[in-house]
Amino acid sequence: MAQPILNVDNLEVAFSFPDGEYKALQGISFSVEPNEVVGIVGESGCGKSLTSLSVMGILPRNAHITKGDIQLNGEELIGLSEKKWQTLRGQKISMIFQEPMTSLNPLLTIGRQISEVLKKHTRLSKEERKNRTIEIMKEVGLPRAEELYSSYPHQLSGGMRQRVVIAIALVGEADLIIADEPTTALDVTIQAQILELFGEIKRKRNASMLFISHDWGVIRQICDRVLVMYAGYIIEQGPVSEIVNNPKHPYTKGLILSIPDHRKRGEKLHTIAGRVPTLKERKGGCPFADRCAYAMEICRSEYPKSHEVSEQKVSCHLYTQGVGVV
Ligand SMILES: Nc1ncnc2c1ncn2[C@@H]1O[C@H](COP(=O)(O)OP(=O)(O)OP(=O)(O)O)[C@@H](O)[C@H]1O
Ligand SMILES: [Mg+2]
Repeated sequence: MAQPILNVDNLEVAFSFPDGEYKALQGISFSVEPNEVVGIVGESGCGKSLTSLSVMGILPRNAHITKGDIQLNGEELIGLSEKKWQTLRGQKISMIFQEPMTSLNPLLTIGRQISEVLKKHTRLSKEERKNRTIEIMKEVGLPRAEELYSSYPHQLSGGMRQRVVIAIALVGEADLIIADEPTTALDVTIQAQILELFGEIKRKRNASMLFISHDWGVIRQICDRVLVMYAGYIIEQGPVSEIVNNPKHPYTKGLILSIPDHRKRGEKLHTIAGRVPTLKERKGGCPFADRCAYAMEICRSEYPKSHEVSEQKVSCHLYTQGVGVV
C-alpha cells in the first residue's frame, strides 16, 4: 500500500492546570491515505478539535503532546522547530475553521490574502500570482473574481468568506486539508453549497482531508472513513457506510440512533442519557461506562484494547470479552 499522507500513532495530549496534568487525548491512532477523506465525529468536548490542532502544531498554550508520533508523508512532525512548522503550514497542511473571520485579516484585500500564500511558498512572479489567485477564486465559486480581488472580507457574506478561506487552503496545494466544522456557522442553504464545493474538491483534486463534523449527514456526504471520538479516545473507526449501517460500539450505536432519519416511523428520537465527562472527571477504564447500558465490571477498571471486526476497529469490552454484538 502507498505511504499514508498522515499517520498518527498513539498520540496523547495533556493540559497543565494549576492543580495538575489532565489528559485530553489518549491512544489516538489513525491514518489518512492519499485521496481519502477521513471524518471525525463525536459530541462536544470529545477532542475532535484538539486532534486537528495537534496535527497543525497549534495546540493551546497550556496543552502539550506527552506521547506518540505524527507523521506527514513519513516525516515526523513532533519536535519540529516553530520555523519548520511555519513553512509546513499552508504548504503541506492547511486548515479551514468554523468561523471564516478567524482565518481572514480584516485589513487586507481578498486577493492579497490568497496570493500571500503563493508569495510565501512559490517562486511565481507578481502577475502569475494574481492570475493564479483569480483562477482559484473562480474554482471555489467566487463570482466576479476580478472585482472581488480588491474587496475586503467585511464586504462579503459569510458563505463567500468561507469560500475565500477554502481558496487560501487550496492555493498552496497542501498535501492535507483539515476542515473543522467548516459549515456549522453558515445558513442551511449556504451550508449545502459549501458541502457541494467540498465534494467537488474531493472529486476533482483528489484531495486528502481530515473533516470534522458533528453532523452525520455531512460525514456521509463527504467522508470515506470516519473516526468516532469519545472523551479523548477514538472508540471506533472504519468505512462510513459500515459505521452507519453496522455500528459496533454502544456509543456509536447511540449516535446513529440519534440521527433523525434513522428513526423508525412513530419512534421517539433517541438521545444518549448523561454527558461527556470533563477532563477532571475522567478516571481509568472506559470513559463511556457510566452512560453505557452494557457496562461490565472490567469496563470500570481497564480501557479496552482496539479490536478489529471486518474493516472496523472498535475499543469495547463487549468484543475483548467475546460477548459480541449487542
Ligand atoms: N484551551 C483549553 N483549556 C482547557 N481545556 C480545554 C481547552 N481547549 C479544549 N479543552 C478541553 O479539551 C477537551 C477537548 O476539546 P475539543 O475542543 O477538542 O473538543 P471538540 O470535540 O472539538 O468539541 P466541539 O464539538 O465542541 O468543538 C474538552 O474537554 C475541552 O474542555
Ligand atoms: Mg471542536
